[in-house]
Amino acid sequence: MNSSHSDLQIAGDILEVQHLLQPAREHPATVAEFAGLARSIAADRSQWAHLVQYDAVSRWYHRLRTVPQALGSARAGEAPIGYEVWLLSWVPGQGSGAHDHGASSGILTVLDGELTEHTERGVRSLAAGSQRVFAPGYAHDVVNDSLEPAVSLHVYYPGLTDMPMHPAQSPPATQDAVPA
Ligand SMILES: [Fe+2]
Repeated sequence: MNSSHSDLQIAGDILEVQHLLQPAREHPATVAEFAGLARSIAADRSQWAHLVQYDAVSRWYHRLRTVPQALGSARAGEAPIGYEVWLLSWVPGQGSGAHDHGASSGILTVLDGELTEHTERGVRSLAAGSQRVFAPGYAHDVVNDSLEPAVSLHVYYPGLTDMPMHPAQSPPATQDAVPA
């Protein structure tokens, strides 16, 4: 017998057993669903390509979506958790500076071009289609080291309220705080 064969069979009409079907969720609620949201936006260029601008003087960014109250809080009495989706562009040489994301988790998805992520663990090249999922407190410095502009999509949950720069490695303090 084929080892991948499943013994599960559904007799009759699956639509007759509504309790077996998960209702479609309006908003993502798990890491996998947030990553899926980012991939679905990435795959649909009509949602973002016409919005992208490149600015050689200061970092360009655009908030694509903000949902203040998407999920119930894990703890009674706490406010529901929302999420934000940001679109960022990077001309060659532009970088974020070393930073973390406060209490937010995040998903970075490269839409166009190539970015380089520096962390204390090393250097990682992120080509278009790459995704990085990170937990609260994760620190990195993202740079466009290539010769072509790059575009990235950033999902933060909860929405980004604080993005502490890490002064030891970051550029001068005149740099604007830009989500990254
Ligand atoms: Fe970041």
